[in-house]
Amino acid sequence: MRRLFILSFFLFSLCCEEAMAQPDVEQRIEETIAQMTLHEKVQLLHAQGKFSSAGVQRLGIRELHHSDGPHGVRAEVDWNTWGTANWTNDSIVAFPSLTCLAATWNRDLSSLYGHAIGEAFAFRDKHIMLGPGVNIARMPLCGRNFEYMGEDPYLAGVMVVPYIREVQKLGVACCLKHFFLNNQEINRFGVNVHVSERALNEIYLPAFRSAVQQGGVWTVMGAYNKWLGTWCCENDSLLNGILKRQWGFDGAVVSDWGGVHSTLGAAFGGMDIEMGTNTDGKTIDRSHGFNSYYLADAFESLVRKGEISEKVLDDKVRRVLRTIFRTSMNPNRAIGKQCSPDHYEACLRIAEEGIVLMKNDKHLLPLGGNRYRHILVVGENATRSLTEGGGSSELKTKYDISPLDAIRDAFPNAKVDYAQGYYSGRPLYGKAQERLDESRQDALREEALSKATEAEVVIFVGGLNKNGFQDCEDSDRKEFALSFGQPELIKALATRNKNLVVVTFGGNPFDTLWSSSVPSFLHCWYLGSMSGRAIANLLTGETNPSGHLPITFARRLEDYPCFKGGERTYPGVDGEVYYDEDIFVGYRYFDTFGVASAFPFGHGLSYTTFAYGKPSVRVTEDAIDVDVPVTNTGKCGGKEVVQLYVGVAKEKSRDFAHARPLRELKAFDKVALKAGETKTVTLTLPKHALQVFSPDSHRWEMRQGKVRIYIGTQHIDVML
Ligand code: BGC
Repeated sequence: MRRLFILSFFLFSLCCEEAMAQPDVEQRIEETIAQMTLHEKVQLLHAQGKFSSAGVQRLGIRELHHSDGPHGVRAEVDWNTWGTANWTNDSIVAFPSLTCLAATWNRDLSSLYGHAIGEAFAFRDKHIMLGPGVNIARMPLCGRNFEYMGEDPYLAGVMVVPYIREVQKLGVACCLKHFFLNNQEINRFGVNVHVSERALNEIYLPAFRSAVQQGGVWTVMGAYNKWLGTWCCENDSLLNGILKRQWGFDGAVVSDWGGVHSTLGAAFGGMDIEMGTNTDGKTIDRSHGFNSYYLADAFESLVRKGEISEKVLDDKVRRVLRTIFRTSMNPNRAIGKQCSPDHYEACLRIAEEGIVLMKNDKHLLPLGGNRYRHILVVGENATRSLTEGGGSSELKTKYDISPLDAIRDAFPNAKVDYAQGYYSGRPLYGKAQERLDESRQDALREEALSKATEAEVVIFVGGLNKNGFQDCEDSDRKEFALSFGQPELIKALATRNKNLVVVTFGGNPFDTLWSSSVPSFLHCWYLGSMSGRAIANLLTGETNPSGHLPITFARRLEDYPCFKGGERTYPGVDGEVYYDEDIFVGYRYFDTFGVASAFPFGHGLSYTTFAYGKPSVRVTEDAIDVDVPVTNTGKCGGKEVVQLYVGVAKEKSRDFAHARPLRELKAFDKVALKAGETKTVTLTLPKHALQVFSPDSHRWEMRQGKVRIYIGTQHIDVML
């Protein structure tokens, strides 16, 4: 990171886009409402199946079909239960995880992703895609961080918008989740989050707000947890106050499955479609289980008695009808495609650009297609499908290429040997880890070590794997280190073979102390169906890495600020969790408080090198434009992510509630450069990006004093 210049500015108002109005749809909504009976109206507001809510048959109003999301269309689930429907025509393309998409820092790839996945949802006749998610990665053990877009609200907010727009252009609604403060899986069904107004406004709300106001998202999913002591699915301040009134959201709020707890709460708390409540539908609880939902018979009877006004009911109905007209009854709805070649191509491009080259000492990578004759691949993730597991985002794929198979294809003239090296047990979602057999583990390890001495190069493929407690819904990881003896195995492999490349999967950071003994290290998130091909293309040098971290890899777990307060700050005491670190999440904390990280936010290497020329600044009425020439000074083409951060000149305060971060990401762009080529990148800093939320006045205010602007080839931890 190079500090290039210092500027100061004054207050400007925050601008926001209004949600798009659709006059013809509005007229149809009013005409329909005028013809509906009270009972028909209520029928729209709750599930009629595990993943469906009703329309009005008598009036020709179609029902809604929902499906997870957010990395592909989930395999068909039974109408009434969580059981799989066992269809044979629902195998799909798995796209990379949203953390991988964020790591591309490429808006065009977000559009490509949205278009492809939107087509897949349209083809399967799904009207609501349950995703994407933009919960901030506050806590590095959170089981669902892989489904979100990292630790920075600006990056997540920018990257989510094209995805939503493209999906919705096809007549499929995105359901933005999980609104909000669902930042841990332990006690996700009950925890009450205490967070400052400043952290809400600066960290936890902005990405949701961008998705609503710039992405124009059509539905939003309420989270399971509580805020201000009230369930997020019944939270008047959150759903009616912030989302609907303040942000102008005109779509429907959908509950997370089982997130509603009372009729009055849902009625007055802004909930529009109640899904997944307690009952397992018609098969288990009673003959008409869906009518026992809180927004079903009980709600209807309170409206009939006059205890809930028709105005409250009609507002919900209007929102659901708007969703129906935008999706299942949208005359321009796309037919879509399933498993088409361009979906695989999109998957590959996103996967390749999301992989982060963390380290490449001695330029061991790229390996080239022909340089080595004997390669050893070690590690369970080299053969395991990582599209399975993880919870509701699990996917049934038609085709997956594993790293081992792809490496064999990519090095046709080499002997490619394989040793599993360790095993992790069966994927047990939400259950305790299977007890592992020590002697089997030892034997696998010994086999790998003895083969490592014979090979010219060793490629270790490990990391997390979406088992319970390994990046999986409903559980957080229990340890920061990689499990199943991987750190020890990596270190031992390094002593047997100096040409060691480590390839890891995972939607979260983990302990990388072992990386000091390893020359080359690639981190891959989860890459979907084309996983192996993307990795092989980077290993050979067919593709030059250009991913950058959307999260901070700390040296030690306890360095993350969310662990500073003991159980009070994670996972909470008696169901209450306090975000005492305020806005100091991720790099904002590490930078400002001088804590060295292992691999900082924004980090990512390339097989080429880039040089920055002198920037020039143009100040317009509402923005500051910074032009910076960037040159590819190496021998191969590559892509550079130019990052712009804004920060205080100096921060002396140690008080989390008032201190300002040293740097905050405010603009970026990704540019492709051939060897020797120079391009000028223009980064625009809207003046409202210089505002901060004041804990004293409870308003956004222009920063006082000098402001520093940093532009860099990557976000290097200056304290190292
Ligand atoms: C998850 C949601 C998911 C829903 C339906 C819930 O348990 O939290 O993200 O969309 O189930 O599968």
